[in-house]
Amino acid sequence: MNPLNATHIQEAAQFIASRTGDKPEVGLIMGSGLGMLGDYIEGAVTIPYEEIPHFPISTVEGHAGELMIGKLAGRSVVLMRGRFHMYEGYGPELTSFPVRVMKALGVAKLLVTNAAGGINTEYEAGDLMLISDHINLTGRNPLVGPNDNELGVRFPDMSEAYSRRLRAIARSTAEDQGFTLREGVYLAVIGPSFETPAEIRMMRIMGADAVGMSTVPEVIAARHSGLEVIGISCITNMAAGILDQPLSHTEVIETTERVKTLFINYVNALIPQL
Ligand code: 6GU
Repeated sequence: MNPLNATHIQEAAQFIASRTGDKPEVGLIMGSGLGMLGDYIEGAVTIPYEEIPHFPISTVEGHAGELMIGKLAGRSVVLMRGRFHMYEGYGPELTSFPVRVMKALGVAKLLVTNAAGGINTEYEAGDLMLISDHINLTGRNPLVGPNDNELGVRFPDMSEAYSRRLRAIARSTAEDQGFTLREGVYLAVIGPSFETPAEIRMMRIMGADAVGMSTVPEVIAARHSGLEVIGISCITNMAAGILDQPLSHTEVIETTERVKTLFINYVNALIPQL
């Protein structure tokens, strides 16, 4: 049963609104090692998650666990530095709760980022991949339980989870910036163990280009809420069995560190156009 309802969403949103005069239009969820984008927010109001009513607390290394509100590239934004993962033990409705709160704050567009393992053998660590679509292999869905028709419909359409319009903007911006943007399907698992080589071969046959442990619950809730979504994966490593080397969270952090400047410039260029 969904423990969070419209009252919880309103309480969290009202608390955040009481801390800032800004009315954010764009929501940003930053994945592992990508939270540094928050350093570029002007006039930022920073609120640790533990202060926000009903917010869970992010526990993973490389995630700061705070909400930032301010101006980025001329737009009013709300940015999550660190997100909640189902592998931390949170259910999908808790994982996607901040998206509900963003919507309640007035956000209409959501930019989600994550670190992901490359399944497509043409990819390399350090590539950025625009998410064209996703495959939910978490076995969970944030909409399970009674539906609140005020929040969204019972059976939301997912045929354009990642906005065609925003993807066209993402492609042309990458071209302007002179780097190769990959585009592919993101497959989500619950984690926290990485996949086996056999699982990665299965995922490739299924049509996945990258695999990760986040994003899908948030995007399902965002689409249910009527938000327009754009997703970008940082391919931090190749998935199991592709290269003859073990996988580690250290590599994930090291790669995001390496592509940081490209990533910041890219997202900064995207924001005014969303
Ligand atoms: Cl290879 N798998 C998953 N599930 N998440 C990841 C990853 C791989 N690389 C970065 N994040």
